[in-house]
Formats: sequence, C-alpha cells, structure tokens
Amino acid sequence: MLQLDQTLGQRPGQQWVGMAMTGCGSSAPALSLDNEGMSQFVETSDEWIASRTGIRRRHLAAPHESLVGFASEAARAAIAMANLQPTDIDLILLATSTPEDLFGTACQIQAKLGASRAVAFDLTAACSGFIFGLVTAAQFIRTGVYRNIVLIGADVLSRWVDWGDRRTCVLFGDGAGAVVLQASDRDRLLGFALQSDGTQNSDLNLAYQPHPTELTPGVSIGQGSFAPVTMNGQEVYRFAVRRVPEIIEKALFHAGLDAKDLDWLLMHQANQRILDAVAKRLNIPPEKVVSNLAEYGNTSAASIPLALDPEVRQGRIKPGDIIASAGFGAGLSWGSVIFEWGS
Ligand code: UT7
Repeated sequence: MLQLDQTLGQRPGQQWVGMAMTGCGSSAPALSLDNEGMSQFVETSDEWIASRTGIRRRHLAAPHESLVGFASEAARAAIAMANLQPTDIDLILLATSTPEDLFGTACQIQAKLGASRAVAFDLTAACSGFIFGLVTAAQFIRTGVYRNIVLIGADVLSRWVDWGDRRTCVLFGDGAGAVVLQASDRDRLLGFALQSDGTQNSDLNLAYQPHPTELTPGVSIGQGSFAPVTMNGQEVYRFAVRRVPEIIEKALFHAGLDAKDLDWLLMHQANQRILDAVAKRLNIPPEKVVSNLAEYGNTSAASIPLALDPEVRQGRIKPGDIIASAGFGAGLSWGSVIFEWGS
C-alpha cells in the first residue's frame, strides 16, 4: 500500500485543512533618505512628494546589504513569533521582483535560516507578490501537503530605479516582511480573488532589453540587461482606484462578509491617495486603514507584511481581527485576501 509522509502528500479522502497566520516579522535598511534629501539630486520637493503620495522618506539598502539579509531577518522574527524553529518549516516562498540570483533567491534564505527541511522557491508578481504568495501558500496547507510555511515579501527596488527620473525614483524604498502560515483546525483564510491583465503590461515595467550579438554568421543571441523601472503613473493610478475596490468586494463576497465586518484595510502601500480613495469607495473609516507610506514609501512585495508587523507587535491588530488585504501593480496584476489574524 502507498504510504505518504504526512508533510509530503495528501492521503486519499483527507479533509480540507484550515490555515492560520501565526507570526509576522519585518526588516528594513537602517539608512533612510527624506524628501528634502531627494531634492538635492533630482528636481522635486517635499511639498510635491508628500501631497501627491504621502511619502516623507524611504529606506535604502547600502551596497553591502542584501535582499537575502533583510528577508532572512524578517522570516526569523516571524518564525519566533509563531513559536517554531527553522527546522519546523516545510516551505519558504519568497515573493520578489528584485532577486539576487535570477535562478532564484529563496534557497539562499533557506540556508541562512538553517531551515534544512524546507523546500524554497521564488514567486514573481511585483507589488501583488505577497497576495499571490499568500493564496499559493494556502493551497499547500489546505490540501494537507505542508503544515508550516514562511511567506516572505521582499524587494530592493533602489537597485532598479532610474535615480534621475523624478516620476519614479521618489516613490520606491527597500524592505522585507514575512508571515508564518500554519495548518489549523479552522480556516482563517476567509476569501480571496486574484486577477491579471497583460494588455496593460507596458504601463509598469522592469523590462529585459536584449542587445543582439552575432556569435557566428547566422547565429545571433540577445544577451542584455534590465532597463530601470518605467511607469505610466496616471494610468496605474486610474487602474488601482477602479480595480482594487472591485477585487476587495469580490473577495468579501467569497468570504460571505461585508466591508462593515472588517477591522482593518491592509493594502499595498503605493500612494496615500489610493488608500484613501479605496477606503472611501468601500465606506471604510480612515482609522481602519493601515499606512506606513510616510516612513517607507512603496516597497513593492514587502509593503503589506512590512505594514502588518508593527500593527501586530504594538497590539493594534489582535487575534480574531478581520483584515482585507489587497495588492496591485505590474503585470498588471491585482488581488485581495480576506483573513482573520492569529490562531
Ligand atoms: O506599486 C505599483 C503601483 N504604482 C502605483 O500605484 C502608482 C500610481 N500612480 C501614482 O501614484 C501617481 O500617478 C504618481 C504619484 C506617480 C504621480 O502623481 P500624479 O498626480 O499622477 O502626477 P502626474 O504624473 O500627473 O504629474 C503631474 C506633474 C507633471 O508636471 P507637468 O507635466 O504637469 O508640468 C510631472 O512632471 O508633476 C510633475 N512631477 C513631479 N514634480 C515634482 C512628476 N513627478 C514629480 C516629482 N516632483 N517627483
């Protein structure tokens, strides 16, 4: 008879397993640059950046610092909060668009944590990466394949923006956040919805640019490099304020809940005006909207867990609180997850 290891495979007829989020952690570079500092090398002002985006400063990785370092620190803190050891972890999922190795960076984090039992891989969905990762991780738990998962959202976009382009460089910062997801008696992932639209891909890009090289007559290849981030800000803004409320409503519908049942709105941190517009559309009061934009700017896949962590550690988000989370960005991609914090 076929025997499957409990952590490796689902037995026929096995029950659907619930998922709980039991730990979180975050990490960001110590070095920060405020808007005044930005205006020293690009034509901008604190007044413009703060009034258009809510951003006051951003944290930037120094040359000797690494994505692996920030991600591992965030993961370690999340594992400790969940009262687990690194060797308890079955899967490490790294949501990032700024890997330190295009073959994948998650394995380096696995090694650094000493999570010797864990399988590790990267997932790329830009600023929606944490939400897409959360839903991906949940499938492994729900089907009984894995019991303890670390999901990390981490990005070091400072390495990929054009620091002479004021339309983009003032927006982004670096950081990492992580959560621990565990098998549970009751499913705290209450509903979700994900969407993609590649027809608008060119509105937000970190695109590969091939430089044709002829190796031998008739044999050309396209070795190249990545261009800096380019964005049609107005189009992405319009997309976000239209699509994000829609997708949250869809996820709420799947959860059988209404916006008034929510304790928190925890969105990707791109622009305070987007947070305000989405909250207004959903009739969610400002005191329920989590924002760390002033301090960190847009940290892409890291922004949601980086914003979650201090809220939990300082006791504002409590076990049992119902949270609507939403990510949106390049792809274009967007998604929402409704979950109950804690076990
Ligand atoms: O995480 C991925 C998702 N990304 C987003 O959600 C970003 C969505 N978009 C936005 O948040 C906003 O569109 C921005 C914050 C990027 C831009 O704000 P905006 O109100 O849409 O400004 P705009 O692009 O319409 O530009 C208005 C003016 C322009 O000048 P003119 O042409 O009117 O003379 C820009 O050149 O502001 C100028 N401008 C700046 N001025 C000072 C653009 N960037 C700057 C700047 N400092 N940094």
